[in-house]
Amino acid sequence: MIDLRSDTVTKPTREMLETMLRAEVGDDVFGEDPTVNAFQKRVASMFGMQAGLFVPSGVMSNQLGLKVLTEPGDEILIEEKGHIYNYETGGAAFLSGIQIKPLKGINGKLELAYLENQVKGKFDWEAKTKVICVENSTNKGGGACYSKDELAAIKYFADQHNLFVHLDGARIWNAMTATEIEPGFFGEVADTISVCFSKGLGAPIGSMLLSNEENIAKARRFRKMWGGGMRQIGLIAAAAEYALDNHWDLMKDDHRRAKEFAKAISSNSAFSIDMDSVETNIVLFDTLNEDAITVISRFEDHGIRLVPFGANTIRATFHFQVGDEDLEKVTTGINQIT
Ligand SMILES: Cc1ncc(COP(=O)(O)O)c(C=O)c1O
Repeated sequence: MIDLRSDTVTKPTREMLETMLRAEVGDDVFGEDPTVNAFQKRVASMFGMQAGLFVPSGVMSNQLGLKVLTEPGDEILIEEKGHIYNYETGGAAFLSGIQIKPLKGINGKLELAYLENQVKGKFDWEAKTKVICVENSTNKGGGACYSKDELAAIKYFADQHNLFVHLDGARIWNAMTATEIEPGFFGEVADTISVCFSKGLGAPIGSMLLSNEENIAKARRFRKMWGGGMRQIGLIAAAAEYALDNHWDLMKDDHRRAKEFAKAISSNSAFSIDMDSVETNIVLFDTLNEDAITVISRFEDHGIRLVPFGANTIRATFHFQVGDEDLEKVTTGINQIT
């Protein structure tokens, strides 16, 4: 089976496992794991942030980001396709006591026009708007990336209204590959950043929250409270660092393959696709004759796994463990589906 369901399905490579075996470790609840300590420092400074906190998942780093930026009763603004709104089990309400205001946008990206007039909190009876959440690249939005200008405009709007910016950068590595925006810029436009090593980079576990020292110290306490304090964490930090050093470069090929896949889809009259929407490793396309689940089972007959992303929408996601030979098999399969 060629697994295009997600970029989270990659398996650790032998070299990654060997790197893990060599990692120097200690008890991170005591702050004594040298590998994770160095890695947190390295990633934080890469993004121009003061500090980082290694956590098990992107959901945890997003939720910790919101926790340190808000108080119960606050509101956060997010595009309606945002992961924090759609796929985090209502965590923001449960863990931080905040409400989420989903806004219209394009391909999962916030638009200034829809942000205008959304900031509340002047009156006693209103929730206080505190954070703008941006996702880069977008997941449910089909892998779209913000431009520098778009992010700078959102940051300007946030500053004008005294709001924080949280960046869900689960796939920031893909976004940086596609847009060539340097990591330090994201540290300038966001107060908290969540980055994941377990998506297209291919680490088995691991995300990191980046922010100033005060926020990270606060997040560290909540990580412990939420059961995320880990011990000899250097083992997985070593895998994440290996992934960053060795797999980031491979993303440009994932993006090329995603475009080639999209081209094959566009040449089959059973599907419709917006070719311009394919910017990174994620491809969304619509089925025209049958529902997504039925079409996915036809793909499975050809050895290709995909996920439904709506009644008539399918998502394909590329990662470094799907190579050019696999892509050839996939395009042959696409041509045989009617
Ligand atoms: C944009 C985005 N944010 C956050 C997450 C959550 O990551 P995790 O599955 O590691 O909790 C995902 C997962 O796919 C994601 O796509």
